[in-house]
Amino acid sequence: MSFFWSLAFLAVVPLVMAYPTGAPLGTCVNLTPKHFNSTNPTVLIPPQAGPSPYALSVSKNMYSPSEELTVTVTSDTGDYFEGFLLQARLADDTLVGTFSDPPTNNTKLLQCTDLGDSVTHTSSARKDAGTSFTWTAPSSDVGNVTFTATFVLQYDEFWVKVTSQEIMASTGAPWVTVNSALIISLLGVVFVATKQ
Ligand SMILES: *[C@@H]1O[C@H](CO)[C@@H](O)[C@H](O)[C@H]1NC(C)=O
Ligand SMILES: *[C@@H]1O[C@H](CO)[C@@H](O)[C@H](O)[C@H]1NC(C)=O
Ligand SMILES: *[C@@H]1O[C@H](CO)[C@@H](O)[C@H](O)[C@H]1NC(C)=O
Repeated sequence: MSFFWSLAFLAVVPLVMAYPTGAPLGTCVNLTPKHFNSTNPTVLIPPQAGPSPYALSVSKNMYSPSEELTVTVTSDTGDYFEGFLLQARLADDTLVGTFSDPPTNNTKLLQCTDLGDSVTHTSSARKDAGTSFTWTAPSSDVGNVTFTATFVLQYDEFWVKVTSQEIMASTGAPWVTVNSALIISLLGVVFVATKQ
């Protein structure tokens, strides 16, 4: 094999293998895997057009600053997935919040803008529906957040930009809760004091 052909071979191998160790940074924005058609290697395989068998379920429909939420992958068909890229986005597609402690076996944090603003796979080993991720909200109210993900069932079958429901910033609610807790305990003190 000549030097030229060795180089050409090296260049083609990554295309064929796709990204078994996680989504590359190039997919951070459009969340679309660059998977080439094996019989037609210059043509990209398009995302599935039909409804996604996967969905994102979030532990709460509101977040307070710095609050931890759990995002769980669900599948109404019971399908596993091989690859994925998950982010939390504002309406203008800015990435917000930070994922932490991703399941160690097959997943890792990714830095698209800031470290931990995305999570992806570390291998194409099957991940079961029910896999969940911890996300910490930004330290201030940044507006509605939508979890957005791409799921790869297998090399030529993937769904892009699967979204959760919109998660609203909760405004004022924690103060009301603290306030009423305080009033109740003050009433308790008064009650105890009166009884003595
Ligand atoms: C790959 O290309 C062939 C020929 O154009 C087409 O029939 C096939 O559906 C393509 N496969 C995928 C997964 O897009
Ligand atoms: C980790 O992934 C490998 C490959 O799929 C699997 O064989 C193994 O059982 C997994 N380990 C755990 C602790 O889930
Ligand atoms: C935020 O989300 C809620 C619930 O989906 C929606 O009613 C509201 O219009 C959204 N606000 C903005 C500014 O998009």
